[in-house]
Amino acid sequence: MTEAILLVGGKGTRLRPLTVHTPKPMVPAAGVPFLTHQLARARAAGVDHIVLATSYLAEVFEPYFGDGSALGLHIEYVTEVEPLGTGGAIRNVASRLRSAPGDPVLIFNGDILTGLDIPALVRTHETTGADVSLHLTRVTDPRAYGLVPTDATGRVTAFLEKPQTPEEIVTDQINAGAYVFRRSVIDTIPEGRPVSVERETFPELLATGAHLQGMVDSTYWLDLGTPQAFVRGSADLVLGRAPSPAVPGRCGDRLVLPTARVAPDAKLTGGTVVGADAYVGEGARITGSTILPGAVVEPGAIVTDSLVGARARIGERTVLTDAVIGDGAVVGPDNELRQGVRVWCDAHIPASSLRFSSDQ
Ligand code: GDD
Ligand code: MG
Repeated sequence: MTEAILLVGGKGTRLRPLTVHTPKPMVPAAGVPFLTHQLARARAAGVDHIVLATSYLAEVFEPYFGDGSALGLHIEYVTEVEPLGTGGAIRNVASRLRSAPGDPVLIFNGDILTGLDIPALVRTHETTGADVSLHLTRVTDPRAYGLVPTDATGRVTAFLEKPQTPEEIVTDQINAGAYVFRRSVIDTIPEGRPVSVERETFPELLATGAHLQGMVDSTYWLDLGTPQAFVRGSADLVLGRAPSPAVPGRCGDRLVLPTARVAPDAKLTGGTVVGADAYVGEGARITGSTILPGAVVEPGAIVTDSLVGARARIGERTVLTDAVIGDGAVVGPDNELRQGVRVWCDAHIPASSLRFSSDQ
């Protein structure tokens, strides 16, 4: 049996809601709560036992996923009273693991969408005999991530979380947020206090000569930490660029959930998702966007690379580009919103109030 820990907690998450009254892992991406994709990919890789380590709004996970049997999994839930950080969260669930001390345990950051070959990471771990093996990916700007230089054999030589100075940026390889830990290594993480696996555990393991092995690959990878990334990820799931067995329906240009209504001449492209009970009116054009359940896009609206929250309403002829509209917000007709603008949940923007282009 293979087991995994999924990290879905953290401090800032409740204060930085995606749109939303719902925690990020439960916001639908390609029609199902984002977490479903990670769970289904883990299952497809042979994982059968998952411990969900959470610290906020934990009560929303269990009612939806239950014991996991609908996904062929056995899921357990552990809630931290105070957020324990990534390492503390891992240590905090150690008692739920069933693996023997020498067995591999998978650990996933809960906000990553990736095509990682999970069995290949486990094989790398086993053939190299590493204490911890890390999935690494290459990015052009590594400053928001954990930087992980390796030697010629892939062995990790340092771990620099969120490098700040140019001298620290010694590679474009970053921690992609999926690990295999030897079970006994988890037991060495200090108990009962916050620990960052990135800032404390990995540097200490390296300092004491532990073997950390990196596996670099160029598969699809995205951290969904920003709403813009979330919209991109959802579209990539629909388009089939990001592989997931949990996409409800065939991959293609659009995904319209069964109870959604779309006017015949509305145009949906670029991986657009129209959620349950949502409505898209005549002549609307929606590209690369996520329309969450119950939202309304009125006739003639043009929505591009945007997130429209649950039950939000977008008025006639309104143009949204790279916009995030909170749950229940109303953007009246003839507005123009662009460039990363975020309209808070339940806010109300009257007709013809905002534009970016000239007045002509
Ligand atoms: N249970 C629990 N408790 N989970 C936590 C906690 C906590 O206190 N803190 C963070 N997490 C979870 C988050 O929910 C997320 O799924 C994961 O751990 C990583 O935390 P983030 O807050 O998203 O970290 P990040 O994106 O800034 O950086 C991490 O991910 C990068 C890749 O996207 C680090 O692991 C970096 O090294 C890595 O490059
Ligand atoms: Mg993250």
